[in-house]
Amino acid sequence: MAKDSDEPIAVALAKNQREISISQFFEKNRHLLGFDNKRKSLLTAIKEAVDNSLDACEEAKILPEISVQIIDMENDRFKVIVEDNGPGIVKNQIPKIFAKLLYGSKFHRLRQSRGQQGIGISAAVLYAQLTTGKPAKITSRIGKNHPAHYYELHIDTHNNKPEIVKDDEVEWNKEQGTKVELDVEASYMQGAQSVDEYIKETAIVNPHLTLIYTNPKAEQVVLPRTSEKPFELPKEIQPHPYGVEIGMLMTMLKYTQSTTLQSFLTAEFSRVGSGTAKQICENAALLPKTKPIDMSREMTQQLMDGIKKTKLMSPPTDCLTPIGEEQLEKGLRKEINAEFYATVTRTPDVYRGNPFVIEAGIAYGGNQPAEESIRLMRFANRVPLLYQQSACAVTKAVMNTTWRSYGISQSKNALPLGPCTVVIHVASVWVPFTSESKEAIAHYPEILKEMKLALQEVGRKLGSYIHKKKRVGIELKKRGYIEKYIPIVGEALREILKIKEVEEKKIREELEKLLEKTRGQVEDLEFDESKNVEYDEELAKIGKPDQKTLEDDYD
Ligand SMILES: Nc1ncnc2c1ncn2[C@@H]1O[C@H](COP(=O)(O)OP(=O)(O)O)[C@@H](O)[C@H]1O
Ligand SMILES: [Mg+2]
Repeated sequence: MAKDSDEPIAVALAKNQREISISQFFEKNRHLLGFDNKRKSLLTAIKEAVDNSLDACEEAKILPEISVQIIDMENDRFKVIVEDNGPGIVKNQIPKIFAKLLYGSKFHRLRQSRGQQGIGISAAVLYAQLTTGKPAKITSRIGKNHPAHYYELHIDTHNNKPEIVKDDEVEWNKEQGTKVELDVEASYMQGAQSVDEYIKETAIVNPHLTLIYTNPKAEQVVLPRTSEKPFELPKEIQPHPYGVEIGMLMTMLKYTQSTTLQSFLTAEFSRVGSGTAKQICENAALLPKTKPIDMSREMTQQLMDGIKKTKLMSPPTDCLTPIGEEQLEKGLRKEINAEFYATVTRTPDVYRGNPFVIEAGIAYGGNQPAEESIRLMRFANRVPLLYQQSACAVTKAVMNTTWRSYGISQSKNALPLGPCTVVIHVASVWVPFTSESKEAIAHYPEILKEMKLALQEVGRKLGSYIHKKKRVGIELKKRGYIEKYIPIVGEALREILKIKEVEEKKIREELEKLLEKTRGQVEDLEFDESKNVEYDEELAKIGKPDQKTLEDDYD
């Protein structure tokens, strides 16, 4: 800095201060979006495209048929192709959707869907561009009377704007749908956290989906749908007043179309009719006729206090579409070879004004490894979460459940051990992820509590089963001992009483009959869920989870 000049340093500094585009930000911070290593990047790119295909099919009430193909291009390069039979995308929208970050249809609404941020697929396009320099190739068609459009797109990261490399009309044997083709730097490995695992888990929680998957070794698997019932489109809702924060309320007041405070409250929030709105105004010491535009910060604070003082109904919960106990069990049976299954869908609850519902499932035994930690599957709005397990609320809830009372071993603050898969699904109009990469669910106490209650419900059923299995085992052992001695007793009697062999046989048969009669049929002891109640009582003796320990955890 020239000493003789009188120019303050701030002026020189100002020359370097300028806007950063969102694309430039994520160019440097792609790990925030799930692109932090080659293996994970492959998964994230596929996941973003599949999420969108599923969301779009559901919005259009179409039974989804999605094909996912990964082609090995060698030297850590892969071509990823995801194709759906969804509603397609209007031509003009294609460039912005795929080549502009933060552009989407889901951010500004409250509805249960997989995408919410408007940054999914464009982030995948950005990653492809960064690592291979290749444009994204998109084909989309909105109906048989419309042509299919083909685009090749780059992102102009300085301006966060699409750059059209190619714009064509093409022949496509599909009446409608969208196909996304990306070249990415990646690595393909099987096992936990792999694309294969993601595909499998996606099939478990989306029974209405047919998925055709071709891995880089050109092996194809078809996972047909198990339910022909179209997915019920979740209802969109307004925010609930209890969940709103002051800054948000100020913005809403600034941009609302309503002309009075009363009509603002009824129009913008759920569970506020005109009577309730009046009540809120009264509790806030504000006139219902106040113009929203005239609301100062202080008045908005008053309004916040008024909302708190007013008793409101909980948000509506018919906006949630859980998988359902039956379908979740079907999904588990399809993908996991076990001997016992149990599932539960809880009734909905609310965190920060957002309704949510928890579902849990267990698959026990079969060919699952007995000496290892249980396998934990986490889902949010039907999307498998494969990374950040230890940071996720689901993991905490599983660790905090006392599995020993259900017959599964567990050391303190650890996942239980045993031949078992545990599933938790969180469905919500807004899933509170810990970051934009949507890998782990935040530790809201309301959510943790519901998860734990769900786990206890399926845990108790599992406990009954394991308990019963143990009893059958003990019984068979005892019986085995007795049976072993019957021939010896028979032989001894023959010698002592000097009887014939036929008579000895008769005695043996009598003894066997006697054994059956006194010990009951083994088949009767086999597990039968309808008889669960009596075993539950017995189980209670080995320790049912009590409400008190539960509450202690969350106080
Ligand atoms: N396969 C598709 N079919 C129809 N619409 C799509 C498809 N993929 C993306 N879209 C549209 O593009 C938008 C942006 O997608 P995305 O960047 O993944 O953000 P988000 O899913 O969070 O909204 C979506 O909201 C949706 O409206
Ligand atoms: Mg998306």
